[in-house]
Amino acid sequence: QIYNPQGKRRVLVTKKLVGDRWLRELENADCRVEVCESREILSNQQIAEAIGNRCDAVIGQLTEKWNDDLFGVLKKAGGVVYSNFAVGFDNIDIAAATKHGIPVGNTPGVLTEATAEMAVCLTYAAARHLLEANKYLVEGKYKSWLPDLFLGQQIYRKKLGVIGTGRIGSAYALSMVRGNLMDIVYYDKFTNKKMEQQLEQFNQYLKEIGEKPIEYKNAASMEQVIQEADIVSLHPNLDSSTYHLMNAERLQLMKPNAILVNCARGPIIDEAALVEHCKQNPGFAAGLDVFEHEPALAPGLKDLPNVVIVPHIASATFWTRSAMATIASLNIASILKGYPCWSSGDM
Ligand code: DGY
Repeated sequence: QIYNPQGKRRVLVTKKLVGDRWLRELENADCRVEVCESREILSNQQIAEAIGNRCDAVIGQLTEKWNDDLFGVLKKAGGVVYSNFAVGFDNIDIAAATKHGIPVGNTPGVLTEATAEMAVCLTYAAARHLLEANKYLVEGKYKSWLPDLFLGQQIYRKKLGVIGTGRIGSAYALSMVRGNLMDIVYYDKFTNKKMEQQLEQFNQYLKEIGEKPIEYKNAASMEQVIQEADIVSLHPNLDSSTYHLMNAERLQLMKPNAILVNCARGPIIDEAALVEHCKQNPGFAAGLDVFEHEPALAPGLKDLPNVVIVPHIASATFWTRSAMATIASLNIASILKGYPCWSSGDM
């Protein structure tokens, strides 16, 4: 699909985006926009072919591997900016982009609440066997109310564990703590002062209404979070230091009835180890939005009754996806107009 065929700058968009403001921003920057129709993951060769001989900028997807070769192709075609339709940027070789002198943009800020909401959804769904119970019902197995039918984990006043308290981790933490009066132990190399201030204000309110205050602390180690918490939600970026952060040893440290949530990136969990752990510990539960080898799932993962899985849709609200598209196009429009990347400094 080609928009604004008179536009002087050629911008390639590798997937159809959401909303229409993003397109207006590019058209206003005198761009001719070409959108790839395919809903399949494009190979680097297909992207290189779509870039062709002349391309000023690309809005690409987190499913694409933006490596040295691909940035080389973009540079050769006259490309001056690459904009990732995601806040995460583990699919991009930043050193290669820098080598080719191509600035890279991402979409921070606008998916914080949507992603935190999905982490909350997955926490409850995993704690209360939501999907398993739904399946039981629609399969016609519900014959009688029973005292022990689908007993789950109560969340109220339990201890929350959060690894990584950036924008999304802290939004999730505040929502869970305020909603369920939970103590919280988190791990982040920086103490999140803003989040702690909000927790302190919440404690003032709890005191006023005669409720016991909640406890909060930045733990000395990740292991402390994993061992103490009833729920552990993962929110770090994926890089070499967080790859397989939840491995077999750390899974073993979790409480046998704990809940593990991941809305960050799949490879943060060793998925084969998780499958084994869930088999050995039927009281344990996991809620996953992301997977190690997306879109493939580790053998056995989807058959586990104690695992709730959804296909990487944490940021999939209309508002968020159209805001992401707008930021992705503003990143390009800014560079083409000679300004810094719109989202610069926020990666
Ligand atoms: C991102 O933007 O990095 C998210 O994973 C998309 O939901």
